Amino acid sequence: MYEPIEPFKIKSVEPIRRISAEERRQALERAGYNVFLVPADEIYIDLLTDSGTSAMSDYQWAGIMMGDESYAGSVSFRHFREQIQRITGYDEVIPTHQGRAAEHLLFSTILKKGDRVPSNTHFDTTRANVETCGCEALDLQIPEATDLSSRYPFKGNMDVAKLEQLLQQGTDNIPLVMLTVTNNSMGGHPVSMANIRAVSEVVHRYNLPLFLDACRFAENAFFIKRREPGFENKSIEQIAHEMFSYADGCTMSAKKDALVNIGGFLAMNNKDWADRLRQSLILIEGFPTYGGLAGRDLEAIARGLEDVLHEDYLEFRTGQVAFLGKLLTDAGVPVIQPFGGHAVYVDAKTFLAHIPPSQFPGQVFVCELYLEAGIRSVEIGSVMFAHQDKQTGEWHYPELELVRLAIPRRVYTNSHMRFISEAIISLYQRRQSLKGLKIVYDPGVLRHFTARFEPR
Ligand code: F0G
Repeated sequence: MYEPIEPFKIKSVEPIRRISAEERRQALERAGYNVFLVPADEIYIDLLTDSGTSAMSDYQWAGIMMGDESYAGSVSFRHFREQIQRITGYDEVIPTHQGRAAEHLLFSTILKKGDRVPSNTHFDTTRANVETCGCEALDLQIPEATDLSSRYPFKGNMDVAKLEQLLQQGTDNIPLVMLTVTNNSMGGHPVSMANIRAVSEVVHRYNLPLFLDACRFAENAFFIKRREPGFENKSIEQIAHEMFSYADGCTMSAKKDALVNIGGFLAMNNKDWADRLRQSLILIEGFPTYGGLAGRDLEAIARGLEDVLHEDYLEFRTGQVAFLGKLLTDAGVPVIQPFGGHAVYVDAKTFLAHIPPSQFPGQVFVCELYLEAGIRSVEIGSVMFAHQDKQTGEWHYPELELVRLAIPRRVYTNSHMRFISEAIISLYQRRQSLKGLKIVYDPGVLRHFTARFEPR
């Protein structure tokens, strides 16, 4: 089997502890069968998220020491801005403390009540930030995105016909269109260059701006290079630059493809918007040359944005995700294919076909994987997305019941991937014996973070 080779050697290590089966049982019970509530030192391998969990390179750590902490005009801000301008081509660069702060700034400044914001698929925080402004977040993904049997290489694409239809009805209440690359909420699938171009053509024909939610832009660019004819000989930087060239701006969580533990930014061409955003920035984040960040963070991001463009890094990165995916599919475990850029998504509905959505098959999987081996994953199914009709009291369940195994960047080795696959395969072999959960505390909003459960 193709095994990706780490394009780095390890200079500093962080010990992790195998937790005994009894400790795991007690920890899970204390946490009300919600792994968000399990302390990190009771986790062996943490696949909760790829956000803010990357290992930095020695080049980035050296940058941390070089950070210029000047309140105004920090040299590190100059490095940060120049690197972002080089990749995106956008003039205006606004630092924020993370992605959702960038979203909040953008939407609270640009949107007015009753507006609608289409996207291929909004990430939770993007959607929440749109909705908090009294606006509607619309998801226009292609049908292949939810078709588990489809092997379409760009399942992250936006449905251009649906977009055109929407814009034809009028654009007065549509101030911008978003495109999430890669499409995290839909399996971490990439968006093709052809799709970005087509979306851009429609959006600009209606004189609207297009913004990329660019958290995983480099992983997206790598998939374009590998899967889309005509890009084989282009560099990642060239491809990324072309992606950004079809849009007018972006929001970014640097906690993903900038390979840092905290940070984010907005970048755009519209100087008027940028000036307005900076006014709010000063109120809630900080002066325009640091946003919500320290100078050392800006320096680490600037360097992370260099690291991430290395093709051997991206080959290993996406290769490691695919390696885990392949170990699982070879054993018959149902996972979403093709494999995405930052995570393997298990199809819990098929894995635990005997457990109905009302008993949370995804959450059962997450709990059992923790009990099995101390591995933390995250449910993206009925716990996260089911909602109750206020009038009829009836529950509506999402189409997919998924569990995301998000792989932190440069953190785990292939032996960890093998260990993870063995734990899941063992779970798969005894899946019939697994039982559903019932919810005993439901906080209402964003319940996946704090809900508590009991076994049935
Ligand atoms: N957009 C996308 C596509 C994301 O995946 C995230 C975060 C954000 C925006 C918000 O960025 O966390 O820096 O405020 N995703 C994390 C995850 C939390 O686990 O997928 P943030």
